[in-house]
Amino acid sequence: MIPEEKVREVAERISIVDVVSEYVPLRRAGGNFLGLCPFHAEKTPSFNVNPAREIFHCFGCGAGGNAFSFIMKMEGLSFPEAVKHLARKSGIEIEERQLTPAERKVQDEYSQFLRINELTASYYRAILLNGREGAPARDYLAVRSVKPDISEAFRLGFAPDRRDGLVKHLKNNGVKLETALKLGIIRKSDAGWYDLLRNRLIFPIRDARGQVIAFAGRVLDASLPKYINSPESPLYHKSSVLFGLDMALPSIRTTAAVIIVEGYFDHLALYQSGVQNVVATCGTALTSSHTGLIKRHAERVYTLFDSDSAGKKATIRSMELFLEQRIPAYVIALPDGDDPDSFLATHATEEFTTLRDKARPAFEYFVRTLLTETHPDSVDNKVRIIDDIVPRFRKIADSVERDLYEKEICRLLGITVHAFRKRMGGGKLTPQDTPLNYTKRAENDTIQETLLALLLYYPDARSEIVRSGLETFFTDGYLDLARLVVHRLAGSDETRSLGRLTEITENAEQRTILSRIMVADDSMANIEWRSVFEQCTRSSEKKQLASIKEIASRLATVDPNSDEYVLLLKQADALRTRKSKLEP
Ligand code: CTP
Ligand code: MN
Repeated sequence: MIPEEKVREVAERISIVDVVSEYVPLRRAGGNFLGLCPFHAEKTPSFNVNPAREIFHCFGCGAGGNAFSFIMKMEGLSFPEAVKHLARKSGIEIEERQLTPAERKVQDEYSQFLRINELTASYYRAILLNGREGAPARDYLAVRSVKPDISEAFRLGFAPDRRDGLVKHLKNNGVKLETALKLGIIRKSDAGWYDLLRNRLIFPIRDARGQVIAFAGRVLDASLPKYINSPESPLYHKSSVLFGLDMALPSIRTTAAVIIVEGYFDHLALYQSGVQNVVATCGTALTSSHTGLIKRHAERVYTLFDSDSAGKKATIRSMELFLEQRIPAYVIALPDGDDPDSFLATHATEEFTTLRDKARPAFEYFVRTLLTETHPDSVDNKVRIIDDIVPRFRKIADSVERDLYEKEICRLLGITVHAFRKRMGGGKLTPQDTPLNYTKRAENDTIQETLLALLLYYPDARSEIVRSGLETFFTDGYLDLARLVVHRLAGSDETRSLGRLTEITENAEQRTILSRIMVADDSMANIEWRSVFEQCTRSSEKKQLASIKEIASRLATVDPNSDEYVLLLKQADALRTRKSKLEP
């Protein structure tokens, strides 16, 4: 652990402009410095560095933070590593604080885990490469046309057909078997210790930094199960790991795009063909942790799933996630019966890139798939199709996109926009789902962000806002963020430490908001805070009045026995309470 004073000393010694300039050419633009964002591909600069507040923010991809976060992201380091990195550059010596026994234990175990996985990966690799035992796996890779350099890049291995080969190897290297047991790669029975994976081709699973965190083993023949994966462990949470991300990152950076596939071999086949911005899920459906990870590195995604019905389902399910998270998503469609691996085995890479360039937006793909399954040739069928579309349509977060799709859907179905909207109104709406609320939220943002800026820069405003209660001014994510800010700033008013504020939250969305506010031009400096504050409360009051009116008119059209009615009532109530608090 690095003592807090040391972190502060480093923060004070460095200048964010110097730190960033080592990676990104910057030029002055008003109070900020401007350059091309190193975290996503762009042609016009939207990457801002504010030297006064020691903070950076990219208006293109939302990346933001202070010098430490910049180095973490740029070099793939942890926070303490980034501090040490910058300390070294500025000639500050860091003596680490003694760990508490509990901290030491966690850290020791963590490095033990990594060491065990390293030993295991090398063991399997050595068996694959040398000797008689690895021969079947070498033949198998030859049949599947896996080249040696690719085998090396993936660190492929082979688990021999032995009861306890790995157990012995670990023991010989002084590993405590009980520790390895927690990784699930070996097991214990009455008859003694034994290996989890036997007679299988091994894919080590690595995290974004390239550390081995788990293993998957494929049989060499048609027996089942085809794959056995090492279980969830302190290192491995499969719903938040994207296989191959470490290898894909350079190519994701240059293309700003990522291709998602479902199989290890599909990943390998694409990578070997030179399409390297590709990741695979590890035998699970795509989750919001996956999409969070994707959002951090790419601007758009392509899904490339099998062309069978399971693949189509997975495509549509993932589309819903992408719509919710506003990640532009496209579907690469393969000929029926092909998966990426089989396609590339019989087609040139160029044929694949042509398919990629013809990829359709996920929502359009979805509508077209629906139409091939049910023909819109009767009123009944049209209704059925619309009812399938509506819940997904509501997830389109972008209003321009929604407009476009509405027109397209109506054109394809041969109905009027009015009819579509009528049907939309007829279904069970929940207040959060409706497009109405999306626009409301966007408008709210500016008010809440202005108020957050007041919290940050004006201690008097802070006290005033805190006195009236944060809930009066903030909702949802903003409320959590406001609480964090108030908590952190309580008792300290140094502007110098504002940059460090982005460290108070791990939440990417919240960090984006904070750095956006702090890097914004100095329009919030030297203002009459009270008049801005009053403007904010006035417009927020107006907004709320409008919402109450809207809810009231919606209530009139909704079945009083429905869940939606109850929800709307609750919403109206909450708004009234907040409004009455705002009134003097
Ligand atoms: N999978 C799994 N367990 C299984 C079967 C599949 O975890 N018993 C996961 C693996 O991550 C696998 C993915 O689902 O990579 C896709 O399965 P499949 O298409 O059957 O495997 P491929 O990797 O494509 O392998 P191959 O090309 O050899 O059939
Ligand atoms: Mn497959």
